[in-house]
Amino acid sequence: MTETVSDLLPILQRYFGFSDFREDQKPIVDSILEGRDMLAILKTSGGKSLCYQMPALHRGGTTLVISPLISLMKDQVDALVSKGIPAAFVNSNLEVHEAQARYRELADGRLRLFYVAPERFQDEGFLAALASSGVHTVAVDEAHCASQWGHDFRPHYSKLGASLSDLETRLGRRVQRLAFTATATERVREDICEILGLRQPVIHQRGFDRDNLTYAVIPSDKNRDQDIEGFLHEHPDDNTIIYCTTVKRVEALYTYLKGAGLSVSRYHGRLTPEEKNRVQDDFIASKTRILISTSAFGMGVDKADIRLVIHAQMPGSLEAWYQEAGRAGRDGLPAKAVLFYDPKDRNIHRFFIEMGAPSAEVMRALRPLIYQELVGGPQDLDFNWIAKISRAKLQPAQVASALNLMVGQGEVSRHGDNTFALAQWNLSANYDWVDDLRRNNWMKVNAMQQWCETTLCRRWTVLKYFGAKQAHTRCGTCDTCLAEALSKSKVGSTLPYVRPITLINFAKAISAVGQRWMAVLLGTLSTKELKPHEEPWHSRFAHYAVGDLERWRQRLIDQNLLSKDLQITSRGESWIDGTLEDSHLNDKLCQGPVTEKSSGGHGVPIEVLHKWRKATAYAEDVSEMSIATEAMLRKVHAASSFAQVDLLAAGVSGPWAKRYGAKLQDYVAKQLKKTGNEMGMI
Ligand SMILES: Nc1ncnc2c1ncn2[C@@H]1O[C@H](COP(=O)(O)OP(=O)(O)OP(=O)(O)O)[C@@H](O)[C@H]1O
Ligand SMILES: [Mg+2]
Ligand SMILES: [Zn+2]
Repeated sequence: MTETVSDLLPILQRYFGFSDFREDQKPIVDSILEGRDMLAILKTSGGKSLCYQMPALHRGGTTLVISPLISLMKDQVDALVSKGIPAAFVNSNLEVHEAQARYRELADGRLRLFYVAPERFQDEGFLAALASSGVHTVAVDEAHCASQWGHDFRPHYSKLGASLSDLETRLGRRVQRLAFTATATERVREDICEILGLRQPVIHQRGFDRDNLTYAVIPSDKNRDQDIEGFLHEHPDDNTIIYCTTVKRVEALYTYLKGAGLSVSRYHGRLTPEEKNRVQDDFIASKTRILISTSAFGMGVDKADIRLVIHAQMPGSLEAWYQEAGRAGRDGLPAKAVLFYDPKDRNIHRFFIEMGAPSAEVMRALRPLIYQELVGGPQDLDFNWIAKISRAKLQPAQVASALNLMVGQGEVSRHGDNTFALAQWNLSANYDWVDDLRRNNWMKVNAMQQWCETTLCRRWTVLKYFGAKQAHTRCGTCDTCLAEALSKSKVGSTLPYVRPITLINFAKAISAVGQRWMAVLLGTLSTKELKPHEEPWHSRFAHYAVGDLERWRQRLIDQNLLSKDLQITSRGESWIDGTLEDSHLNDKLCQGPVTEKSSGGHGVPIEVLHKWRKATAYAEDVSEMSIATEAMLRKVHAASSFAQVDLLAAGVSGPWAKRYGAKLQDYVAKQLKKTGNEMGMI
């Protein structure tokens, strides 16, 4: 009888203290236990590592894990070892004798999990140890790196399939091949299966939606640094990553924000390994709150409580953006991903595409030169010199990329930073596909830019890009959905944009935790006081305004979709499964009793709020928009008073109410004194 995921529960409990696998993990683990080759696509923070670690522990023998991230291998292995799991890694940061000691452990079959980067397959010492280790499974993490068509191609990944076949020949038996990634379009999925040589693989495409994340794009072309600074001030307690596209930009923003008195650190590929480790460790341990980084930091980083990911520039693809945004909210609690957008960011990607993949024509011009250089044996290549003699007006970086592509094709091999040798030189290679690759990279930039400029739901748009099939629905929480709801100028009109599934969850949430949960949303009860079963409901709805939730609830009851005791009615069921006529329903729901009030009972004209905003922006030396957008000011205006609870009930965010509520009350009171007006409300 084949074993199933439930057989692993005792060790899951024992080593990790988790009571069960997540629903998305179960079928993945099951097919691993069946022994089949497999590709699993599971969202960022979905728990991919556990999917291969648990079967590895359960089965004994050795599982080899291939990961592109030298900097993270140590953390992952340390975490396993601290749980008493025999695991080790070898990477280029180790001394030779350290590596050899670990190879001996591997060869003796003492390790359940062994982590390496794909380059390791060129090390005979490793291969010999691996062959005698009794390895039965190879798990390739971040498998999208194998594909040229993905967003983070690593040439060494592209030879893994062949390396694994060599290993099997050496062992005289089959090794189970597993591949994991969070982001893969259909083309990349096909590529992974082919390149890694997966044999009739099971493909699991699990849930993609990170529903605790909210997305927003803020147009910002002139004063981006100041805009970002203002935004950071609005989120004073959030652990934050700010992604930039280039090292230069990281350094510039770092200098600016530091100069502005914020405590920030920075991370990019030009730091020394020691610096990188220190910065990474400090951030993971929350010793620093804000990290400015290139894409070098991120993939696979498992810091649970990042509340905010800011993109200071538009990334080159939705794959890259989704992976980076996915660093936020790994604990499942609400978190934000915000992109500061300037259409001119496109120019950076033009540069990257030019540098990253020379045209087919350039490739054809370069190949004879490279051949000549290498025909006498391995050589240290001088990219400047080759660029100069090529007469094709090339940059040295383009020569480096051309060589990368040729390594990927197996025509040359790399033996050090700049040392190359001829490998299987292909006389008839024409590299026409490189032009396709460039086109593909442009398509990715275009898709990213369209996403920035869309008025459709951003969540839906990104899911569709990754292959989701359903028709456009509004999530109700991203910036475009909120703008759309607001533009109807009826505060209560949000309901038609709430997905039926949200309705179910909402109803369940209210009946599960009721008043206590409302108290958390209102800020009168701390989240720490929630019981474990209440937590998920809170996190699912914490980014909705309490006032809106209460209005929705009332409307759901008015419409007989929910009963008075907050159970879903049969009419509600048919709304959820789509059999209740939508037009009929929406019309009625839209005629809500709540329309935007001219003033919220406090009688303060909106002009006073405008004046207050101006004065505050002046005092804090930031833009007026970073104090409050017009939409925010309207919400404030609609509140019945400026007390924190009333602001929250009107849909103003908690941090804003906390930061400005009292100040605004003061200001208004002073204004009133000046004008001699009497207003009992304030
Ligand atoms: N069954 C489970 N129960 C509770 N927590 C879990 C479970 N499985 C995984 N986790 C936790 O979820 C977090 C994310 O796991 P992991 O780092 O493996 O995600 P990932 O899918 O590799 O994400 P990424 O694509 O970002 O690398 C970890 O902190 C892990 O401990
Ligand atoms: Mg991972
Ligand atoms: Zn949306």
